[in-house]
Amino acid sequence: MSPPRKLHIKSYGCQMNVYDAQRMVDTLAAEGFVETASVDDADLVILNTCHIREKASEKVYSELGRLRVVKDEAARLGRHVSIAVAGCVAQAEGSEIIRRAPVVDVVVGPQSYHHLPQLLARARSHGRALETEFPVEDKFGFLAPPQPDAIRARGISSFVTVQEGCDKFCTFCVVPYTRGTEVSRPVARIVDDVLRLADNGVREITLIGQNVNAYHGEGPDGRTWSLGTLLHRLAEIPGIVRLRYSTSHPRDVDETLIAAHRDLPALMPFVHLPVQSGSNRVLAAMNRKHTVDDYRRVIDRFRAARQDIAFSSDFIVGFPGETEEDFSATLALVTQIGYAGAYSFKYSPRPGTPAADMREMVTAADMDERLVRLQELIDSQQSAFNVATIGNTVDVLFERAARNPGQIVGRTAYLQPAHVMASTDIIGRVLPVRIDSLERYSLLGELAAPQPTLSQMTPSQMTFPPMTTGA
Ligand code: 5AD
Ligand code: SF4
Repeated sequence: MSPPRKLHIKSYGCQMNVYDAQRMVDTLAAEGFVETASVDDADLVILNTCHIREKASEKVYSELGRLRVVKDEAARLGRHVSIAVAGCVAQAEGSEIIRRAPVVDVVVGPQSYHHLPQLLARARSHGRALETEFPVEDKFGFLAPPQPDAIRARGISSFVTVQEGCDKFCTFCVVPYTRGTEVSRPVARIVDDVLRLADNGVREITLIGQNVNAYHGEGPDGRTWSLGTLLHRLAEIPGIVRLRYSTSHPRDVDETLIAAHRDLPALMPFVHLPVQSGSNRVLAAMNRKHTVDDYRRVIDRFRAARQDIAFSSDFIVGFPGETEEDFSATLALVTQIGYAGAYSFKYSPRPGTPAADMREMVTAADMDERLVRLQELIDSQQSAFNVATIGNTVDVLFERAARNPGQIVGRTAYLQPAHVMASTDIIGRVLPVRIDSLERYSLLGELAAPQPTLSQMTPSQMTFPPMTTGA
């Protein structure tokens, strides 16, 4: 038997890319590839690229420059190394990559990963291969499922893609062009995936999709199921103790999702709900399809369903035409909502998107300054949120041994890392931890005797940073 070929995969960007990378590894495992952490002994290198923000393609070309050296060096020693470019840059600039980078053997768009084995074969026989179509079939139905040992090696928390693509067309965003229109996977397929993961030790599932709460998959009863209904079904699967989902659009929050937060203890009270801006003028120019008030009302509905819920968000500063007044409205919204954390980005024009043609650019200096102010505010809210945990007893799902000997690390409901001294037996279990201190972003504590946990507390027992909502 020939020795296994080695695959090195480097992923940039979002959770969807992390998940896709695993599925490419699983599919190529069926072809005799094993994963390697080192690029130098790889027979196949896949760059799984991201196109969402700045300098995406430049990064890819400079990485390809480095890979050319690796490939030439291997060729000198009589070994062929194949290079594949996957992900959203491949989708957006496939033919340009083939033209500019002779080192590349295969270019494959996100909807065609199940064709990777054929594309590699085609590259071997014809020199190079490119596929950036949006095929009609569901790629997940064709990608090989992960084997039990691969699932176990990846740990107790797993992503599962339930939906891909987006029909919202925010004017700054490249996703509807690179990932295509919204497609939801059928419920039965998702249930099968989660059963397989749970059977092999996975305890936490994060459902992912570019606009995950637009999920509208075919249910086993022949009807269309929403994300909330899907979550109810997945909560019944033995072994799954925590459910999460990401990323949501405020406009697509429906009553079934709110009900899921009210009814399902396994559904974590931490919601990533990007708003992008606190100015109605900017939201309209972004084609976000919601106002600031709409967003506040959605937050209020979540809070009414579950008292201990917390939020994170994404923000863009310096969208074309954003004035100081618009930016102040963003700061005001952040102050009013009170986030447990958030990501903020400088606007970056994406070729082919409507905003890329907008003229009124905010100066680089103003963008930098606004980003710093916003990040300072968000950081202070995040610290306050973390500090408020000290002295509380919170549920932690333990994930793995920490770097410090004897310590086990897990995560709270709000994804805060929490460390305790304990044996590795606790990995995979949710246990109450009394939090004693905070070290940067990590909580330190001790295993506590079972006692009321956050989700069982009354509001007066909880200390959170100020979170005032309402008009
Ligand atoms: N410029 C800056 N940030 C962007 N994002 C998406 N497109 C752009 C862009 N052109 C941000 C949004 C989105 C997150 C994933 O990336 O905040 O929610
Ligand atoms: Fe992009 Fe999200 Fe807007 Fe869809 S909803 S276009 S993914 S920012």
